[in-house]
Amino acid sequence: MNRPRHFNLLARILHWSMAIAILAMLFIGAGMVVSLRYRELLLDLHRPLGLAILLLAIVRLANRLRHAPPPPPQDLPAIQVWAAKASHWLLYALMLAMPLIGWAMLSAGAYPVVLFDGVNLPPILPHSPHMYGVLRPLHGVLAYLLFFTILAHLGAALFHAWVRRDGVFEQMARGE
Ligand code: HEM
Ligand code: HEM
Repeated sequence: MNRPRHFNLLARILHWSMAIAILAMLFIGAGMVVSLRYRELLLDLHRPLGLAILLLAIVRLANRLRHAPPPPPQDLPAIQVWAAKASHWLLYALMLAMPLIGWAMLSAGAYPVVLFDGVNLPPILPHSPHMYGVLRPLHGVLAYLLFFTILAHLGAALFHAWVRRDGVFEQMARGE
């Protein structure tokens, strides 16, 4: 099969717009649990932006499964090829899990899942204080995992761009 030299346009648009949205969500989330003054405002941003990330992640995953990614450089050590693959799938898993857990924990806590004024999403779990007690800390712990994985991902991307200069960064930054 002929492998492309770059990620396709949809993959690149989704990658960079979602990178901004996901980083914003981590700071919005952290901000809303430490600020009393901005808590409501940040929560009103957090829920719809999180749901938008869930929808875009589904589109992105479908696009990724239909279109083979560009191959890694031939001289890249096998362990780094493996680490790149594993970390990309972990990022996908977290992009899907974080919004689903947010939605599920509000459902379990019997809180309304407000998207916009007057537009609520249905609960995806029955009322269960026990499940709320599990999912609420899980949302926080996985947010840390997401943050540290993104830091490693950023480090790897810059290593390819500035040290190895092997074209991996351009696979996501440029088209054919
Ligand atoms: C990519 C998606 C998401 C990310 C990265 C994210 C990130 C975060 C972070 C970092 C926190 C603070 C955690 C802590 O300090 O324990 C948080 C809290 C929270 N998140 Fe999310 N979140 C996402 C999606 C969602 C969604 C879709 C919902 C609901 C529909 C949601 C609902 C909440 C709520 C209600 C809290 C705070 C709860 C409280 O203060 O008790 N999150 N989120
Ligand atoms: C912070 C700035 C970021 C930079 C500089 C960056 C850079 C890159 C580069 C160069 C690639 C291509 C790697 C390859 O060809 O193997 C890539 C792929 C990828 N990145 Fe990022 N990235 C960033 C943020 C993020 C964030 C926040 C996420 C999601 C949480 C993310 C998720 C992914 C995934 C899943 C891939 C695999 C390709 C795909 O299926 O879309 N990236 N990134």
